[in-house]
Amino acid sequence: MKNYFLTVLLVFGLYCNAQKFEGLAQTPPLGWNSWNTFATNINEELVKDIADKFVELGLKDAGYEYIVLDDGWMAKERDTEGNLVADPIKFPNGMKALANYIHSKGLKFGLYNCAGSKTCAGYPGSRGYEYQDARLYASWHIDYLKYDWCNTEKLKAEGAYITMRDALKEAKRPIVFSICEWGDNEPWKWAKDVGHLWRVTGDIINCWDCEIGHGSWSSFGVWKIINMRKDIRTFAGPGHWNDFDMMEVGNGMTDAEDRSHFAMWTMLASPLIMGNDLRNASKETIKTLVNKEVIAVNQDKLGIQGFRFSNENNLEIWIKPLANDEWAMTFVNMSDTITTINFNWNKHDIGDNLNNRFLNVKNIIYKVRDLYNHKDLGTTSRNLKAEIDSHDVLMLRLSK
Ligand code: GAL
Repeated sequence: MKNYFLTVLLVFGLYCNAQKFEGLAQTPPLGWNSWNTFATNINEELVKDIADKFVELGLKDAGYEYIVLDDGWMAKERDTEGNLVADPIKFPNGMKALANYIHSKGLKFGLYNCAGSKTCAGYPGSRGYEYQDARLYASWHIDYLKYDWCNTEKLKAEGAYITMRDALKEAKRPIVFSICEWGDNEPWKWAKDVGHLWRVTGDIINCWDCEIGHGSWSSFGVWKIINMRKDIRTFAGPGHWNDFDMMEVGNGMTDAEDRSHFAMWTMLASPLIMGNDLRNASKETIKTLVNKEVIAVNQDKLGIQGFRFSNENNLEIWIKPLANDEWAMTFVNMSDTITTINFNWNKHDIGDNLNNRFLNVKNIIYKVRDLYNHKDLGTTSRNLKAEIDSHDVLMLRLSK
C-alpha cells in the first residue's frame, strides 16, 4: 500500500512538473524590450529611465507591464560555480536590485537567454544549465523569460523548450515563457502547453514591407511578417499567443505607418512589446502607443486573433470578433495615395466561420466608433464614408 501511494505521488509530481505556469498571459503581454533600438548597448540607467517613462508617459496606465532586457545583459563567462553573472560594468548593482526598482514602480521585469550553448550575440547560453539558470532568475525575482534559438546544433526545439519550461516550473516562481525560435519549427503546433507566446518569424525591421537579407537570415518589415503568418490564427488564444515580434512603432516609419503597424498587432492579438527609445519618443508616437481604445481590442478577453476579411484595390479590411458580440474592424490603405471609402454594411457578410460568430447588420444596428480619432461615426444603418491617407488606417469598434 505504501508503495502504491509513493507511486501515485511520484506520478502526480511528474505530472505537475510537466506544466507551464497557467493564468499568466490570459491576454497578450504588454511591455518593452531593449533589442530593436539598443541591441547589446544596455545598462542599468537606461532600464531605470524606461521604468520611469512607463509611469510618466502614461504607458503603465495604458496597461504596459513588462520591461525586458534582451541579449547583452550578461558577463561573457559564468562564475566558478556555473552561475550566470550580470555584466558588472553595465549593471553594477546586479539584477536583483534592478528587479526591485522595476517592481517598486508596479511593473514587471524580464530577461533574455538562449536554448543554445551561446546566445546570438555570443554570451553564455542555457544549454546544460537550464535548472540552475531558472533558479537564479527566480532568486532575482524575474517575471518573464525570452528564450532564443542560436547555437542549438542537434537540439530539437520542442524538447529544448520543454526542458526550460520544466526548469522554470521547478524554480517555483511564475515566469512568462516567451519562445523565440523564429517560427522555424512551427511552435504554434506544439507550444501551447510549453510557453505563453512564440515568435512566428525571423526578426522584424522598421519598414512597411521590405525584406533585408543578412546572408543566412533575413529581417522582415511589418507587412512581410503579417503576410507570412496570416494563416495560423487557430493556434492563438488566452495564455498562448502568436508573437509577431517586438514593435517598431517610433523607430522611423511614418506616423501613419506606425498607426497601421500598431492597429495590426492589436488585431492579430500579438503581444504588444514596444521597441523604441521612450526617453525621446515623439508626442505622436506616444499618442499611438497609449491609445486605450486600440489596446482594448488587443486585450479583449475572448482572445481571438483577427483575420483578413478582404483585400481589393489596395484596401485591406481586417476583422476581429470581440466579447459581448462586438467587433473590431480595420481598413488599411496600402496605396501611395489617399483613398475614399464608401462601405455599405448590407452588401458584406461579415463573420468568423472558425469561431462561429457573425455580424448581423440585417437585424441589428451596430454603433460605429473610430478608435484613433475617438469619434462616433453613426451606425451600420448607413454607409460608412471616410478618407484614409496613404498607409494609414481607419480602426473601428462595432457595438450594439
Ligand atoms: C534574435 C532574436 C531577436 C533578439 C536577438 C538577440 O535571435 O530573434 O529578437 O533577441 O536574437 O541576439
